[in-house]
Amino acid sequence: MYALITGASKGIGKEIAIELAKKKYDLLLIARSASQLEDVANEIKNHHGVKVDFLAADLSAPDAARTVLKWVEQNSYQVAVLVNNAGYGSAGNFDRFTIEQNRDMMNLNMITLTEMCQVFLPMLKRHSQAYILNIASSTAYQALPQMAIYAATKVFVLNFSRALKFELKDSSVSVTCICPGATDTNFNDRADIPAKARKAAEKVTMTPQEVAKISVDSMFAGKTEVIPGFVNKLGAFLAWLAPKAVTEKVAAGIYE
Ligand SMILES: NC(=O)c1ccc[n+]([C@@H]2O[C@H](COP(=O)([O-])OP(=O)(O)OC[C@H]3O[C@@H](n4cnc5c(N)ncnc54)[C@H](OP(=O)(O)O)[C@@H]3O)[C@@H](O)[C@H]2O)c1
Repeated sequence: MYALITGASKGIGKEIAIELAKKKYDLLLIARSASQLEDVANEIKNHHGVKVDFLAADLSAPDAARTVLKWVEQNSYQVAVLVNNAGYGSAGNFDRFTIEQNRDMMNLNMITLTEMCQVFLPMLKRHSQAYILNIASSTAYQALPQMAIYAATKVFVLNFSRALKFELKDSSVSVTCICPGATDTNFNDRADIPAKARKAAEKVTMTPQEVAKISVDSMFAGKTEVIPGFVNKLGAFLAWLAPKAVTEKVAAGIYE
């Protein structure tokens, strides 16, 4: 039985792939970089003895989910675990970015994630037990000036995942959404997170291994929404408690 993981070439996605390989799932890895996927595939095959295949694809592209499904069907892979992890942010004022840049991020973080759930649902439902694991972010709990679109895409991921889980409650498919806080991956570099914000998060940053283990354990435990780490849980609680204008001002101060 296969687990399909998007964004599996590095960071949290790679570690989720390793966690699933430890549980003897065969793996399908997706990201843009073929060479990095090949390295991860070889590493996992050598260490865990499971089957691993990969597809290099840009999941920001229109109809990316259908492209992935076609590849899976052509190879007769049976996917029982779908992990929608690929995503990124970009720090800076909303109008610093072009329409195309903003659209690419929204496509990857929201549209392709949604369409992956849609196109793979019939296959997942054929299994007596199947799982969807969607990776949102702790930014789903507040508006985030300087990362306005990114944080908003993660609100979408969280609420979509919760509603989907409810709709599927009488089916064999369980849906889990994970909301990680700062995690030590390539995310900060790609997002161009300013030094001040990196420094602020330094002491509470988790490793991708920690986040991946919590994610996979939570998925198999059938949990709905999980914030890894005590400090991140506390942060989400405080963001809920405090006036929105205050949390937004604090966040903006860290990013400026
Ligand atoms: N790190 C954090 O602090 C943090 C916090 C909260 C939530 N998250 C979320 O965690 C998830 C994983 O991020 P990460 O921290 O592990 O970041 P990362 O180290 O940058 O990994 C991102 C993964 O997504 C892939 N990817 C990026 N753009 C893609 C595209 N257009 N098409 C296909 N694959 C693409 C990357 O591979 P290629 O570059 O080869 O395509 C890579 O495998 C994201 O959804 C992110 O929003 C991260």
